[in-house]
Amino acid sequence: MLKRLTICFFAVLGMLLTQHVSAKMEVVFSPDNAIELVVADVDGTPKYVIEYNGKTVITPSRLGLMFKEQQGFRQALKIDKVVRNSVNQTWEQPWGERKFVNDKHNEILVSFITENGKTFPVSVRFRVFNDGVGFRYEGHFGESEQISITKEITEFSFEKHQETEAWWIPSRGWNRYEYLYNKTTLESIDRAHTPLTMRLPSGIHVSIHEAALVDFAAMTLDRRRDGILRANLTPRSDGLKVKTHGQFVSPWRTIQMSDKATGLLNSSLILNLNEPNKLGDVSWVKPGKYIGIWWGMHLNVNTWGSGEKHGATTERTMEYMDFAAKYGFDGVLVEGWNTGWDGSWFHNGDVFSFTESYPDFDISKVSQYGEKLGVRLIGHHETSGSVTNYEDQMQDAYDLYQKHGVTQIKTGYVADGGDIKRIDEQGIVRHEWHDSQFMVKHYLHSVKEAAKFQISINTHEPIKDTGLRRTYPNWLSREGARGQEFNAWGSPPNSPVHTIDLTYTRMLSGPMDFTPGIFNLAFDGLDAENRVQTTLAKQLALYVVLYSPIQMAADLIEHYEQNLAAFQFIRDVPADWQDSIAIAGEVGEFAVFARQQREHQDWFLGAITNDDRRTIDIALSFLKEGKSYEAQIYQDGENADWKTKPYDLDILKRIVKKNDTMKLKLATSGGVAIRFKAL
Ligand code: NOJ
Ligand code: CA
Repeated sequence: MLKRLTICFFAVLGMLLTQHVSAKMEVVFSPDNAIELVVADVDGTPKYVIEYNGKTVITPSRLGLMFKEQQGFRQALKIDKVVRNSVNQTWEQPWGERKFVNDKHNEILVSFITENGKTFPVSVRFRVFNDGVGFRYEGHFGESEQISITKEITEFSFEKHQETEAWWIPSRGWNRYEYLYNKTTLESIDRAHTPLTMRLPSGIHVSIHEAALVDFAAMTLDRRRDGILRANLTPRSDGLKVKTHGQFVSPWRTIQMSDKATGLLNSSLILNLNEPNKLGDVSWVKPGKYIGIWWGMHLNVNTWGSGEKHGATTERTMEYMDFAAKYGFDGVLVEGWNTGWDGSWFHNGDVFSFTESYPDFDISKVSQYGEKLGVRLIGHHETSGSVTNYEDQMQDAYDLYQKHGVTQIKTGYVADGGDIKRIDEQGIVRHEWHDSQFMVKHYLHSVKEAAKFQISINTHEPIKDTGLRRTYPNWLSREGARGQEFNAWGSPPNSPVHTIDLTYTRMLSGPMDFTPGIFNLAFDGLDAENRVQTTLAKQLALYVVLYSPIQMAADLIEHYEQNLAAFQFIRDVPADWQDSIAIAGEVGEFAVFARQQREHQDWFLGAITNDDRRTIDIALSFLKEGKSYEAQIYQDGENADWKTKPYDLDILKRIVKKNDTMKLKLATSGGVAIRFKAL
């Protein structure tokens, strides 16, 4: 073993031999030995290297943070002590894509000394799992010592960067996380958000992200020369990156890796690096399906503001509640119920009231009506990025909703990147990025406050997901990417590959409230720019592919009543799972998931493709031995094509068993959705 490590290390850091530099190194393997991580102090510079199945993933890359008040990692540091630990435990999710999660990893905590022999107050903890690596900085300064982080210098370096493919969206842009994905070489990345997904020339798939982002700035990635990506923390409005004190931990920097693209989708590394549930009994947090007074506003059929076209009326809400009760939905989202939407709401969040209804919306009446039907009102708080106005009203707003039986609120932060408005302690107006330390704390504050009222949160224009649903299970879902809404008015709308790109990037971070299920795909005609660029079958398949514990049937309800046969799949598909398996797929091309309903025998399958039609052979080996299932199949018809025949859908039934295989035929931007009903 020792021989292999030494050879590996010097092969990767061959320069050590040729340049006669000194280095102390520590090695840690994943439990299955496939991943090897080496940490070394290369001539006084702490660096790390990662190999996977004997192939280099990360070449020597710097570690470190820089501080305003203290000396940071740009000084000679040597590895001092190393503490090792191993964990193998299984924990349970109250809701999720799988009920049981296995956390198996080997850990080293590395501390450093400075040149003059003093203990350096920041150590680095590494955890090596079978599906990747996580590491974080742990500061041990004096209890009340002020710490200002001015820069993070962590690097992620890759060889053959000219040949490495990358899928990414830009960071620090006006549209937050709501961009179409770029597919470029690593060489052509500029500044990117995470998760950033890559396919190396060796065929290894890698995704860089972070876990447990609490009281810190989000990490974005800058491309530097020679294949180096470097952490770039989103600044606060005072120019610093992070302000903290005493003992602190950074979020985990994560590198997920797999031979197969599906390996990334099956990884639980982000969740495993988060703290266990801090809320105790969370039986009040309920996954489920909902409809809403929503799409009508995006289509401009209704308005959020008052007037003739006002969407959020008492009558319409009751009509939607009737529909929800009839077809088995748990809740009805109502947007535009509160005052403040008249005028230019996008630019003036200060006028929103979160307790005052428009006169044509009677919150008591609708919530009482819903209670009788067993349907909940789902709350909505659009802040337009005026967070002080929201924070000032938060208690009253959550209290009001709780009194009316609301258990879930969708929040919104529509403001351009960098334009979040807050008023500081001196009364000065400051502008922040959505992913700055200030906002990271604000989003979590809203989730923690809501928990006190037994309310769950679904954040739109959020901070990216870093797995905090494990610690705060009432953070049910979020947007944080380009969702369905762009098909109504986006320029351009979402392309056929977009939901595939989401699957292999954004979805690695956690659930997304994408809001699938548009049935009237071409509301302005097939040739209009704004339409949904998928087949109908793909809209159904998205309920299985794009995981969220709350799933919306996003279209106007009349469009479902016009196609009850296809709608049956949305009625049947659950939003909470016993297990989930990505069974086939390639980044940028297609994805196939099988998921088992929570506490149930039924399985569901969703397959989606990009602009290419394709046939995929699937083994049904995930089904239970000895059991028969009725496969209720919703697939693209013979002539289906997203541009010309998006509604061509075949609904078939077949009896299948575990040893069977199925041929899935997908049209251009098409899909297949299957319920395997246990017999
Ligand atoms: C943006 C959200 O993503 C969308 O769902 C919502 O309807 C609007 N903001 C208004 O709040
Ligand atoms: Ca949005």
